[in-house]
Order: sequence, then C-alpha cells, then structure tokens
Amino acid sequence: MANSERLDGRQDGSAFAELDRYRDKWREAPLGSDTDGRMFSSDLLAMSDEKLLAAWDAMAGRRYGGEIGWLGPLYFDTFRASHVLELGSGLGFDGIRFAEAGALWTFADIVPDNLDVIRRIACLKGLSDRVRFHLIDDDLSFSALPADYDVIWVFGSIHHVPFEIARKEALEALSHLKPAGRWMELVYPRERWLREGAPAFEEWGKLTDGERTPWAEWHDIEKVRRRLFPAPFRTVLDFEFCSHNYRWFDLQYASDRPFRLDDFDVDLLSRETVLSNASISLKAGARRTLKAQSFRCPAGLFAPAAELDLAGAIRGLQGDRAFLPGIAVDIDCTVDRGSVGFGLVDVAGAYLPGAETVVESGPDSRRVTLRATAGDLPSKLIIRNLRSGCRSAFTMRSAAVRIAG
Ligand SMILES: C[S@@+](CC[C@H](N)C(=O)[O-])C[C@H]1O[C@@H](n2cnc3c(N)ncnc32)[C@H](O)[C@@H]1O
Repeated sequence: MANSERLDGRQDGSAFAELDRYRDKWREAPLGSDTDGRMFSSDLLAMSDEKLLAAWDAMAGRRYGGEIGWLGPLYFDTFRASHVLELGSGLGFDGIRFAEAGALWTFADIVPDNLDVIRRIACLKGLSDRVRFHLIDDDLSFSALPADYDVIWVFGSIHHVPFEIARKEALEALSHLKPAGRWMELVYPRERWLREGAPAFEEWGKLTDGERTPWAEWHDIEKVRRRLFPAPFRTVLDFEFCSHNYRWFDLQYASDRPFRLDDFDVDLLSRETVLSNASISLKAGARRTLKAQSFRCPAGLFAPAAELDLAGAIRGLQGDRAFLPGIAVDIDCTVDRGSVGFGLVDVAGAYLPGAETVVESGPDSRRVTLRATAGDLPSKLIIRNLRSGCRSAFTMRSAAVRIAG
C-alpha cells in the first residue's frame, strides 16, 4: 500500500512495530484502576475457575464504583447491540460489562495471556457468543476482523507506544469503523505530564504505570486528531477529570464513506504554505525581541499582541480547486510567561466560533492547530494576552497553513 509505506517511512512494506518490550510489560495488567496495582495475567490463569471469577469480580466491582463508574450509565444505551472493537483490553473490565448489557465486543490486545483471562471470564459468565478476540501482532493488522464496527474503544492503551506506532495501528483499526462510527479514548493529559516534571516519555511510563513501563505519552485533542489524520472526526466529548489525571475523548468519524487511506492524496493534504516572520504584524504596545521570534504582549487582558495575515496563503492553497474542504493553521510555539490565545478571525474581525486555543506557559514546545471549514474561512490569526495582570510572553518557531479535511 503506497500511502502506508510513505507514512511509516519504509519502502519494503514490512512491519516496523517491534512490540515485544511492550508485551513483556503488559503481561502484568492493571487490576481495574491505577490505584489498585497490577498482576501478571499468567498468575490469574493459574487460578481455579471459582477463584479467578471471584478475584475478577472484586476488581471489576471496584472499577465500576470508582472514578470511571460513569462510563456505564453514559454508554449502556449507545452500545446495546453495537459492535465494539477495543484496542488494549487488559483484563476486560469494560468489555465484559458492556457485553453483559447487550454489546457485541471484540477484545484486541498485544498480550495473549490477557486475552486468555478474558476468554475464560466471558465463558464463566455465559457471554462467549457476544465476544471475540484478536491478538495484535507486530504487523498491527486487523484484517481478520469485520469492517463494520460501530465503535473503537481505546482505554489507556495505545498511548503506551510511541506516536508513529500508535498512528499506524490507529489507521489500520480505522478501516474497520463504520461511517459515523465513534472513536472513544482515555489518555493522560499534558497537564499531568507537566505536573509530574515533564519527563521523557520513556521515563514517564514508570510514574504513570509502574517501574517496568517502557512508554507513556501525553495527548490532547489535536494530538489524537494528528494520529487519526487524514480521517475526519467531529468532537462529541472532550474533557479532563480526576484532577487532570485523565482525559476522555468521544469522537465521531465525520464521513459517509468507510475510511481507506488509499482514498486520500496524502501528498496534497500535506502541502502547506509556511508563513514568514515578515507576515507577522505587531499590535500597539507589543514588543518583538530575539531575532524577531519572541514576543511580549501589551498590558491588559485580551490585548492583541500580533496578527498573521492568512488570506494570501489560503488563496495560494486554493489555487483553481473548485472545492477546499477546510484549512488548518499550525503554529509551533513556546509560551514563556502567562497565557496566550491563538485565534482565527473572519474578514469582519470577528472571532470564529471555537477557533481560539489558549496555551499556558510551560517548558515544552507546543504545536497549536486551529481549524476552519470551507464556509467559514479566516482572514487572520490573532495572538492575544489572556492572563490578567501579566504581560504574557511567547516564542513562535513556525506557522503554516495547510488544507485539512
Ligand atoms: C494500562 S492497560 C489498560 C487495560 C484496560 N484498557 C483497562 O482500562 O483496564 C494497557 C493495555 O493495553 C495493552 N497495550 C499496550 N500497548 C498496546 C498497543 N499498542 N495496542 C493494543 N494494546 C496495547 C496492554 O497489553 C494492556 O492490556
């Protein structure tokens, strides 16, 4: 498949995900919640049926009564008689619960013993005809599965492998999702990563999921969208809970056709116009320093610091194309002090609904992506101060406009 070869950077079409080190970690699966500890699934498999069921039920009971207990009441009705594919099912607490309530659940995991535990639990609970299993191999293929899933459920799993592996896996799984199907995912937010010292992702996994964890990576909505790109999604839910420890996304695949990567002209979608420093104009009171890349906002909440004229770049991208699905503006920046808003405005200077992203100061470089649909194209990007009593400061490394689905 030409497109996937381009995406994974290999020309021989071979699998690039070597999952053994992740498999070795995840033979020890979480017992329902982050505070409940972990257990080797082989130890659970060594138990008698009676003991296994009692142990599993006790763990499941704590999970359903804990911080994510709301998942059941929120989704029982949505999932009844629906086909759900779960990536990274662990010991199967969510899938068994929803299968008991009428869902048809496919458990997929990289660890065979984890799947064997669920297989036994499903059998003991009389659910064997409502569930199926898929062992994810290094080729990250789901081709043995049907292509008509209503939902893909990803609960704290693929953020434990590096972004490019997770992206390849997600795109493989997406070709098994129905039009208008849902992608639901629990991730760890960036706020938690910052609070815990902004460690390398190889180190962060040890803090989030125990000493043997090789990887944990923060995600926000844009990172999840980048992982799923070019499949278009609209946001149904996006919120953090438990003191910024978790973030929940419920996204709907916004197309009436099944997703096929080969249907997309990836070269066209990745074409962009890079905006130069020259196209950034300063607003009154703002200051630019350090080779024209660092900015200090004027005093006052909401005071604009700089604006980028987008009209020319958008015209350039449009060329003589009859249809422009929409555009995205990507900005790589660091906010050094305070809070900064990056927002799109229309020709009349009015902010486009939902098109402002607020970035708080922090040590890491951020990629901010702002989107606009064809019917609502912006004329400018405005950057403004959003911290009261502070002249926020930021550094912009690049800005570019591209076509987006
Ligand atoms: C933190 S546990 C979460 C398990 C379960 N979803 C839960 O909430 O209890 C991570 C699970 O994801 C699986 N996993 C790790 N990397 C994966 C990947 N790239 N694809 C699918 N599953 C993966 C692990 O084997 C493990 O079962």
